[in-house]
Amino acid sequence: MAILVTGGLGYIGSHTVVELLNSNYEVVIVDDLSNSEKFILKNIEEITGKKPVFYPFDLKRRELLTQVFDAHTIDGCINFAASKAVGESQLKPVDYYENNLFTLINILQEFKERGISNFIFSSSCTVYGQADQMPIDENTPLKMPESVYGKTKQMGEEILIDFAKAYHRKIALLRYFNPIGAHPSAKIGELPIGIPNNLVPYVMQTAAGVREKLSIWGDDYPTEDGTAVRDYIYVVDLAKAHVAALRKLMEDESNVATIDIFNLGTGKGSSVLEVVKAFETANDVKVPYQICDRREGDITIAYANADKAQRELQWKSETSLEEALRTVWEWQKYLGNRNA
Ligand code: NAD
Ligand code: WQD
Repeated sequence: MAILVTGGLGYIGSHTVVELLNSNYEVVIVDDLSNSEKFILKNIEEITGKKPVFYPFDLKRRELLTQVFDAHTIDGCINFAASKAVGESQLKPVDYYENNLFTLINILQEFKERGISNFIFSSSCTVYGQADQMPIDENTPLKMPESVYGKTKQMGEEILIDFAKAYHRKIALLRYFNPIGAHPSAKIGELPIGIPNNLVPYVMQTAAGVREKLSIWGDDYPTEDGTAVRDYIYVVDLAKAHVAALRKLMEDESNVATIDIFNLGTGKGSSVLEVVKAFETANDVKVPYQICDRREGDITIAYANADKAQRELQWKSETSLEEALRTVWEWQKYLGNRNA
């Protein structure tokens, strides 16, 4: 029996594949390499000493997906595959709806027809928008996200809830806060393709001299130092939460619909300036920055109440911000040497 990991060569997917293999799951990866590279597979094998099955194709191609389900006994899926650039999603809405929802529906068709349960979906704290109260727990009201990307996450959740209810299947919706960091081996991490949109990859490239200066988007927020606050969760901790959520779904042998929703964060908010300072301290490097206007669509503050995950999954974030940022720098050195 195997677990299908879509987008398993991507950033969070590759770290989760490592944790699954380390926990002795058989893994089948489908990834079209649209936002990842083949060397990640080799490095996963080096880290774990195991070889996951890998199919390089676009999940929109239902006929190829059917062949994967014919060839393997799939017992569950962790669905990472999606396009994730918020800005790009505004410019290419149809492509984002197509990639993020058609792929989901194709997998669910296979699940429906073959009676498979155990589906884990990569959702996002973006479904809460700017919440009225901190910290954000799972009962915090959802707000329709402003971005097309965010809407695909909220729609994906709705589709899965209907799927679970109608066919009595088990699903988990994992709402990640801000994943950061790389594997301690520095062999897998977030691949910076083009100019990074997210804070930590930009900080990493600025420290390395690839970018001249970090632009801090706004210092007039109503926070302690005026910069916006987020909950930065170490990617290996996040990956472990997937294994815990999968285990919980698989241990439940009832035939009733199960809809597990978990916020995955550290429970602690850090401001942009705090992240910059922590990166400098952790790695003994300088990150030149300038203060700019706010970025359109940004919220002021978001951090999780992750108590439910601790209670029901026996999972909690273990790694400090500084430790996570040290792995980012090791990963940058690995990438630098690779390109040299
Ligand atoms: P990523 O881009 O690194 O990984 C996604 C992987 O899916 C890539 O390897 C890409 O090649 C693959 N993929 C995309 N479309 C595909 C398709 N049609 N067929 C086959 N493969 C396809 O992204 P990530 O940061 O690892 O994010 C994983 C998931 O988590 C995504 O669903 C994302 O929306 C969600 N998420 C990410 C964050 C974050 O900040 N990174 C936060 C919340 C939620
Ligand atoms: C963090 C903070 C920026 C870059 C996005 C998505 C969200 C989720 C996570 C997937 C903000 C500031 C950033 C820079 C800066 N992804 N910043 N200079 O905005 O919380 O969320 O990624 O689901 O859906 O919207 O993360 O890393 O982009 O920004 O000052 O060059 O850093 O303004 O306050 P964000 P981020």
